[in-house]
Amino acid sequence: MAERVRVMFTEEEVDKRIRELGEQISKDYAGKTVHLICVLKGGSFYMTELAKRITVPVTLDFMSASSYGSSTKSSGVVKIVKDLDEPLKDKDVLIVEDIVDSGRTLSYLMKMLGDRGPASIKLTTLLDKPDRRVTDVKVDYTGFVIPDEFVVGYGLDYDQRYRNLPYIGVVEFD
Ligand code: IMP
Ligand code: MG
Repeated sequence: MAERVRVMFTEEEVDKRIRELGEQISKDYAGKTVHLICVLKGGSFYMTELAKRITVPVTLDFMSASSYGSSTKSSGVVKIVKDLDEPLKDKDVLIVEDIVDSGRTLSYLMKMLGDRGPASIKLTTLLDKPDRRVTDVKVDYTGFVIPDEFVVGYGLDYDQRYRNLPYIGVVEFD
């Protein structure tokens, strides 16, 4: 079965949107240091591009989480594969994700990290698929709202492939 990728947002469109978000975040965090938390692996491409467009001081940390099997999925429990290196106490935390889909991963992470005593905690996602939401998640900065299609590129994978595409696309089969 042949596979190809239809472009949903070009490299230029993604770059432009990330610049806009960087400007907005810089304004909102004026006088503060923003502590970016990248949710690996998908969030890494967006995080580095966003960090370059933020003009207030930035610090970074990384974590990796994976969902438990489908039997426990409804509980929204995720496994922390790699935890943060630094404490969050009194920091202005901004979680950086590639996509919010069902919202299970993020609602769990926001609660878990919120319990560590940050001064504030917000969420940015490059992509949001609100049609698929099963858990309420408040997104503070959204790149693009997209329909219920499986997207790849800019950190997002299909079976670990396509993360390196510099644009957002949809995998199609014929
Ligand atoms: P959640 O359903 O909101 O918890 O999203 C969990 C994870 O599923 C995301 O962080 C992505 O890694 C993955 N995911 C959801 N939708 C897509 C997609 O369209 N393409 C690639 N990965 C996706
Ligand atoms: Mg992910």
